[in-house]
Amino acid sequence: MQRAALAVALLGASVGAIKIDFTDAASVKNGASTIAYGLVKYYSGNETGQVPGILPEPYYWWESGALFNTLIDYWAQTGDDTYNAVTKQGLLWQVGEGNNLMPVNQTASEANDDQGVWALAALSAAESGFPSPAADQLQWLDLAKNVFDDLVARWDTKTCGGGLRWQIFTFNAGYDYKNSASNGVFFDLAARLYLQTKNSTYSHWASEVFEWEQKVGLISDSYDVFDGVRTEACGTVDKIQNSMNAGIFLHGSAAMYNATSSSEWKTRVDGLLKGVQSTFVKDNVLFEAACEGQGTCNVDMQGYKSFLARGLKATSELAPYTGQTIRPLLLSSAKAAAAACAGTTTKMYLGKPGTVCGFSWIAKNGQVFDGKIGVGEQLNALSAVISTISGGAAAGGDDGEGSSGGNGTSTAGPSKTSGTAGPVTASVKPPSAGTRVAANAVAAVVVLGGVVVGLL
Ligand SMILES: *[C@@H]1O[C@H](CO)[C@@H](O)[C@H](O)[C@H]1NC(C)=O
Ligand SMILES: *[C@@H]1O[C@H](CO)[C@@H](O)[C@H](O)[C@H]1NC(C)=O
Ligand SMILES: *[C@@H]1O[C@H](CO)[C@@H](O)[C@H](O)[C@H]1NC(C)=O
Ligand SMILES: *[C@@H]1O[C@H](CO)[C@@H](O)[C@H](O)[C@H]1NC(C)=O
Ligand SMILES: *[C@@H]1O[C@H](CO)[C@@H](O)[C@H](O)[C@H]1NC(C)=O
Repeated sequence: MQRAALAVALLGASVGAIKIDFTDAASVKNGASTIAYGLVKYYSGNETGQVPGILPEPYYWWESGALFNTLIDYWAQTGDDTYNAVTKQGLLWQVGEGNNLMPVNQTASEANDDQGVWALAALSAAESGFPSPAADQLQWLDLAKNVFDDLVARWDTKTCGGGLRWQIFTFNAGYDYKNSASNGVFFDLAARLYLQTKNSTYSHWASEVFEWEQKVGLISDSYDVFDGVRTEACGTVDKIQNSMNAGIFLHGSAAMYNATSSSEWKTRVDGLLKGVQSTFVKDNVLFEAACEGQGTCNVDMQGYKSFLARGLKATSELAPYTGQTIRPLLLSSAKAAAAACAGTTTKMYLGKPGTVCGFSWIAKNGQVFDGKIGVGEQLNALSAVISTISGGAAAGGDDGEGSSGGNGTSTAGPSKTSGTAGPVTASVKPPSAGTRVAANAVAAVVVLGGVVVGLL
């Protein structure tokens, strides 16, 4: 008891914290750059002997896709191109032999949602006019299109009347599960590709996926987005909700609304936004409903709020009438997120002292820093802080419509088509949903004002 009280007292005495004046654009950018600096310190893929595009353990491959998407957003919103080189190098290194973000090192354990998260990063690059690959190389938009084509080919009508399975290969645990993350990245890709190209193949699939999610009960009448269904019991829905799924379905719906102005998509945007407000907002800030209160979020879940912040920000631009609802929420979340970047750590954190971001943005017992740190925490905080920047600052004449309908400055290179993945033999059993949690066995040792507290 007394020791706990002492630790808490010292936590409170932390000299760090990222102080941002949210009425001053320079201050916001400065704060964002501090968070980004601490974030990229977790990444060493550009160093000699390391593999570009890969984060070290305990982070799975999908999370480096999430990292690059957030760094693209960071550049688009702030104009700071410090991390463009590592981002471009990492994305291009992982393109894979079939030009579809299935590099051989990953295919044995790669799932549809993993591939889709990377494809969304490529799509964000195309949308925001992120510096293009060389003219004779595959372009960002082509990469996103190739993954879309893969996902179409995997649409499975044999069970549950449609949908994508979580896993790509039968030998992986989770092949018998159809989840909202896989279908959600597919949906978001389709919707945003439609906005970019107006090719009706994309709008057809956006509608198809959304309607399937509703039919099977994964999107409820009140627009809650549930986790998934087992293919042998399609009527039984796993009702866990996570903020990433809500964020990607909202983002794609807003893109479809923007492209069509239809009342059908407006209804979906409004419903999903209400769902976000009722499930993922507490004390006026975003929170991870399924696990944050209990402190049980695993490494994957610790990065989901970044997707929700991105989805909300994009929605406020693609469906501008939602801005008056969304902007205050993003601002209060960003303020709380920056305040939670107040940890003093050694070893695990190589960013500026006193600025490591905690996971929860809701103060507990007066404490703003909860001691949970990592790539996900930095991603979430960075996405929240940059979401408050209006009008973006990216180079290339982009006027801030980073995630809207602009064609960006990416040049249209030769359109290389996706090769088939071919048969893959797994030498290592990839982690299943359950073991993903256990994989986070690394203990973070956090030094707080001289008191060493072992976490997890
Ligand atoms: C890797 O990227 C970081 C961040 O941009 C940079 O500070 C570092 O110098 C780079 N390392 C190499 C070997 O280029
Ligand atoms: C695959 O792994 C090998 C060995 O670590 C590495 O040299 C190579 O760069 C990796 N390729 C990709 C695309 O990650
Ligand atoms: C529309 O997109 C689909 C799917 O990627 C593609 O097969 C088709 O060629 C595209 N149509 C046009 C006119 O570009
Ligand atoms: C689509 O997005 C653009 C850019 O944010 C916006 O100006 C336009 O009003 C949006 N269209 C609709 C139908 O809301
Ligand atoms: C993007 O470029 C294509 C081809 O030039 C054009 O047809 C389309 O209207 C453009 N989209 C937007 C949103 O400007």
